[in-house]
Amino acid sequence: MKFFIDTANLDQIKEAQSLGILDGVTTNPSLMAKEGITGQDNILQHYVDICNIVDGDVSAEVISTDFEGMVREGEALAALHDQIVIKLPMIKDGVKACKYFSSKGIKTNVTLVFSAGQALLAAKAGATYVSPFIGRLDDISTDGLHLISEIRHIYDNYGFETEILAASVRHTMHVIDCAKIGADVMTGPLSSIVGLLKHPLTDSGLAQFLADYQKGN
Ligand code: E4P
Repeated sequence: MKFFIDTANLDQIKEAQSLGILDGVTTNPSLMAKEGITGQDNILQHYVDICNIVDGDVSAEVISTDFEGMVREGEALAALHDQIVIKLPMIKDGVKACKYFSSKGIKTNVTLVFSAGQALLAAKAGATYVSPFIGRLDDISTDGLHLISEIRHIYDNYGFETEILAASVRHTMHVIDCAKIGADVMTGPLSSIVGLLKHPLTDSGLAQFLADYQKGN
């Protein structure tokens, strides 16, 4: 299972990278705005900065909603760095743009996916990644994890190579449940990654080992 961090915060990306278990980064316009990154030049430079920190794929989202605009923006983003993955919204022109980029061998991430039908379309369009938003489904009392199971089942039925990127992960149990279901990737905040480290028995066990060592020395 690949671990992506879902942030545009460079310090958090560096911290996750320093653990040695980070496989990539996802961003979106809201995450960029949260870090105060505005203006096209600054946003493009920020993507390059992120690529220079991590070894893996970095999703960069287009803001156009028409096919021509998505292609124009996506090509400019792809030219920035070979780690860039073009993130496209699950709308009609997004599907067309996904097919356009996938047929050129450019990596894509189809985002804002909330149903199995949308995930099926993304796979048919040759998406590298599909991003079902599990936390936002949970937010409206719908079972986000069930959607991951449905997509896994459908993709396995037909051998689709599109990777299921469980997005809108909010906490450690989302990560564990996605791993049980067989999501290929999860993207979540730093807390959902480092939270996996925590167990009180690890802390108390280590404290005891260190105390016992001190007694003998
Ligand atoms: C995915 O790529 C999105 O950036 C993200 O996971 C959305 O998460 P949120 O629902 O916590 O905003």
